[in-house]
Amino acid sequence: MITIQNLSKVYKSKHNQVVAVDDIDLKIHKGEIFGVIGYSGAGKSTFIRLINRLEDPTQGDVVINDKNITKLKTGQLRKERQKIGMIFQHFNLLWSRTVLKNITFSLEIAGVPRKQRKEKALELIDLVGLKGRENHYPSQLSGGQKQRVGIARALANDPEVLLCDEATSALDPKTTEDILDLLVSINKKLGLTIILITHEMHVIKKICHRVAVMDSGKIVEQGDALDVFMHPKQSITKHFVQQVMGPPQDQALIDTLANSFETGKVLRLHFVGETTNQALISQLAKGFDIDINILQGNITQTQEGTYGALFVHIDGPQNEIDKAIHFLSNTSVEVEVR
Ligand SMILES: Nc1ncnc2c1ncn2[C@@H]1O[C@H](COP(=O)(O)OP(=O)(O)O)[C@@H](O)[C@H]1O
Ligand SMILES: [Mg+2]
Repeated sequence: MITIQNLSKVYKSKHNQVVAVDDIDLKIHKGEIFGVIGYSGAGKSTFIRLINRLEDPTQGDVVINDKNITKLKTGQLRKERQKIGMIFQHFNLLWSRTVLKNITFSLEIAGVPRKQRKEKALELIDLVGLKGRENHYPSQLSGGQKQRVGIARALANDPEVLLCDEATSALDPKTTEDILDLLVSINKKLGLTIILITHEMHVIKKICHRVAVMDSGKIVEQGDALDVFMHPKQSITKHFVQQVMGPPQDQALIDTLANSFETGKVLRLHFVGETTNQALISQLAKGFDIDINILQGNITQTQEGTYGALFVHIDGPQNEIDKAIHFLSNTSVEVEVR
C-alpha cells in the first residue's frame, strides 16, 4: 500500500552535508503496524517526515495507494495529506484551545461544517477515552491524556495512515503501555496502517507486526517482528533485542545447573508462536506427578506470539517424567532434554 523507492534526503549547509536518509526501499502493507527502530540521529524523523512530505526528498519516491506523494502539486498534496495523520513526541497541541477545539481544528481546515465537526470530535474523544475532558485545556492534562488528544486530532479526517514519531518517548512506562494499547485497538477497529518510529525495542515488541532497523540513514535489517527478535543478524539489531531480552543465556551456567541435579531431567523449552508458557507449566504441574523447578528463562510476548527459552528441572517417578516429556513434544514447544 505504501511503496518507498530510492528515498534519500541530504541536508546541505555551506560547510558540510548530512545524508539523513540514504537510499531507502521499503514496502508497507495495508493495515499493518510497521516499526522503524534506530538510535538518535539515525534519520528516523527525517524518514517519517518524507512520507507525508513535511520534508521534500533529495531523491526517490513515496507512493501511497498509487499516488506518488513526492510528485504532487500543493493543492493535491494538501488533499492527500488529510489521509495521513501524525502524532509527535511532544504532542504539538494548541495550548490556547480546549481538547474539543484542538480536535476540531483540522476539520476546520478541511472545511467541514461546524455541527459535523463537533459530532466527529466527540466521537473521537470517546474513542481515545477522554470523555468528560472536552473543555479542558492541554495544561490541565497529563502526558498520556495529551497524547490521546494528539491521536484524536490525527484521526479527525479519517486517515488511512497514522505516522507516529516517538509518540511514547516522553511518557512514563505505565502510560506508554496504555497509549500503545490504544494504538493497537485503533489499528484493529479502524483497519488503520500505522508506521511508528522509536528508539525503544520494547515498543516494537509490544505492538509491531514488522520492523525495520535504521542506522546512519539506511535500513540495515527488516522482517517480521518475531523473526527479527529470534534471529537478529546485524550487531545493532542484537543490541536492540538485548534491550528487552537481556544478555544471551550463559551456556556454561546452564550446563553447570543441569549437572547439579542427581535425579530428574533438565529441559530446555523453546517457545515460538502461540503457546503461552504460564498455561503450559500449569498443565504440566496438574497433569503429571512431577515437581517443576524453573531454572532460567527469557520469554517475551510480541504481537505475533510468545518466544524465548525456558530451562526447567523436572523430577519425580521416571514414567511420569517420560509422560511429561511426551506431552510437551506434542505441543508447539520445542523440547530439548539436557
Ligand atoms: N533540518 C535539518 N537540517 C540539517 N540537518 C538535519 C536536519 N534535520 C535533521 N538533520 C540531521 O539529520 C540526521 C538525522 O536526524 P533525524 O532524522 O532527526 O534522526 P532521528 O530522528 O533518528 O534522531 C542528524 O544528523 C541530524 O542532525
Ligand atoms: Mg527523531
